Amino acid sequence: MSEIDLKAYIRDIPDFPKPGILFRDITPLLANPHAFNEAIDQMAAHYEGKKIDAIVAAEARGFIFAAPLALKLNCGFVPVRKPGKLPFDTHSFHYELEYGTDTLEIHIDGVQPGQNVLMVDDLLATGGTMKACCNLVEKIGATVAGCCFLIHLKALEGEQRIAPFDSFSLIEY
Ligand code: PRP
Ligand code: ADE
Repeated sequence: MSEIDLKAYIRDIPDFPKPGILFRDITPLLANPHAFNEAIDQMAAHYEGKKIDAIVAAEARGFIFAAPLALKLNCGFVPVRKPGKLPFDTHSFHYELEYGTDTLEIHIDGVQPGQNVLMVDDLLATGGTMKACCNLVEKIGATVAGCCFLIHLKALEGEQRIAPFDSFSLIEY
């Protein structure tokens, strides 16, 4: 059992970025190396021993957890980015968020058919972002090994939306 209460490092910001949204701010956790390290360790422990060829994560906040986790699990990191940011040929996909819609892109050679891919993000809200990323990874012919989050906002039922993909999170609200 961890001595660090990770939830104590999440700051609540009401009405950001729009009225009615309670924003769960991860920056206090990122600013504390013990809390940040503990979060990565707990994620890595959950997937230790599982066959994972690559981690896929969407910018920007997904990158923060995906990169150190990929190093810990000794696998590659494949970025999913906002349109026009990736330099090579891309697959492009449109999806819905808790507070709007967005489009994301992934390099066509980022994920290979047959790979086992772990999906990572800082937070699961409606599940729109994660579902879109998972669907894309499967369309490429790879397998989603699981979806890993720091935070899960249970009331928004994102877990149901991304089902049957397996989800794991460290902090729940
Ligand atoms: C946030 C968060 C997740 C997503 C969760 O990203 O980092 O990726 O929303 O919401 P959902 O479950 O309803 O899809 P955001 O689009 O705000 O971008 P950012 O990481 O660049 O801040
Ligand atoms: N992304 C989507 N919903 C969010 C929330 N309520 N707090 C932080 N990030 C989010």
